Amino acid sequence: MATTRTIRSVEVLRVTGGRRLTGSVTLPGAKNSVLKLMAATLLATGTSTITNVPDILDVEIMAELLRRLGCEVEHDKDRARVQITVPERPDHRADYDLVRRMRASICVLGPLVARVGAADVALPGGDNIGSRGLDMHVDGLRRMGAEVTSEHGYLLAQASERLTGAETWLDFPSVGATETILMAAVLADGTTVIDNAAREPEIIDICTMLQEMGAVIDGVGTSTLTIEGVASLHPVEHATVPDRIVAGTWAVAAVMTQGDVTVRHAHAQHLSIALEKLVTAGADVDILDDGFRVRMGRRPAAVDVVTLPYPGFPTDLQPQFIAMNSVAEGAALVTENLFEARFRFVQELARLGADVRTDGHHALVRGRRALSGAPVEATDIRAGAGLVLAGLVAEGTTTVYGVGHIDRGYAGLVPALVGLGADVERDLVTE
Ligand code: UD1
Repeated sequence: MATTRTIRSVEVLRVTGGRRLTGSVTLPGAKNSVLKLMAATLLATGTSTITNVPDILDVEIMAELLRRLGCEVEHDKDRARVQITVPERPDHRADYDLVRRMRASICVLGPLVARVGAADVALPGGDNIGSRGLDMHVDGLRRMGAEVTSEHGYLLAQASERLTGAETWLDFPSVGATETILMAAVLADGTTVIDNAAREPEIIDICTMLQEMGAVIDGVGTSTLTIEGVASLHPVEHATVPDRIVAGTWAVAAVMTQGDVTVRHAHAQHLSIALEKLVTAGADVDILDDGFRVRMGRRPAAVDVVTLPYPGFPTDLQPQFIAMNSVAEGAALVTENLFEARFRFVQELARLGADVRTDGHHALVRGRRALSGAPVEATDIRAGAGLVLAGLVAEGTTTVYGVGHIDRGYAGLVPALVGLGADVERDLVTE
């Protein structure tokens, strides 16, 4: 029987190692904030504007999702802003074709139940980084009076009347669950308390925007959020907090390439532990008025890392630190406490010659003097970042497949890298 073979072109990044990175970069707004800010606009009828919006694929997906819910969305990439006009009664169904492309789609759940008393959200896909439960989201909404079921791959939430404020205690300070309960609570009847809430800078950002919309929230930035529900909110203009994970990625790039990089428009205090780790590795870190500068004059020393909820070391910087440790002097133990499958990228790093052994949620990284360029595949956003960093110091050329993942989190990565002196280009290959 004859078989037909489809030939298609895929984008790759070709990174040729050996260049020191020097110069400055300006941070975009945070991916992990802007998507939630866009979802939060659903809470008020009228036109809200979000500024400092990163030019990434996930923003496009969220814009499309909001359009399907009946909103008008204008994305002005030149001015890095999104304008969202929310109708009196938004639709309430988020289809699988969008949700599977971006797990963060789940963040429309809370606002929709609060605003229209119903949400049908396809169960998420998105990052391939292990099982990520929704139990705390569901439990929080149920406590506020919503009925939540799952049918045909959809999470169906319904509230026959206005949600009522309730006390919730999260088993774990989940970012997503805190956001879902928070966005539902701002329009609920009465007081909601979220204990053991997440404290990430992105949570503070959304709380600030909700307050600007007229929400009453106490304890912002602490692990107990108290929300007095109000009858309605009004549209606003709000600027997205700078992306601390992109900032951390640049900092690691400076250290690995023994370079000198200034990161502008960054809040260094959002990265305290990660920057401290880089100092332990031997870097000089200067805090500036609008960011920080990282200089490194030698091979980094290996540093142990344990990921934890904020203000602990961020899981989203774990692959970048494994990449750094793989060329460091000495050995480091990296412990991943949030997402069990985050070590999957280690197999790809091994293709470059890295010496990493994993056991459960620990990885033992023994630094090597040199890595050697090879084809590798990015399996999620941060794994992609880790592989690009490794490519920057590997001998020869590293071809990174799975560029779509990297584009989801890093706006303008290639021009920024080239601006700092890296030898990186996008290319098309057929397969
Ligand atoms: C967000 C970020 C992600 C980051 C993570 C932790 C976005 C779009 N993504 O993800 O980049 O790595 O925070 O900083 O903002 N969990 C449950 N039940 C729940 C909710 C979560 O068991 O109801 C578990 C998950 O399986 C996971 C852990 O809690 O192991 C962390 O999840 P969470 O903090 O909610 O992260 P996300 O909001 O998914």
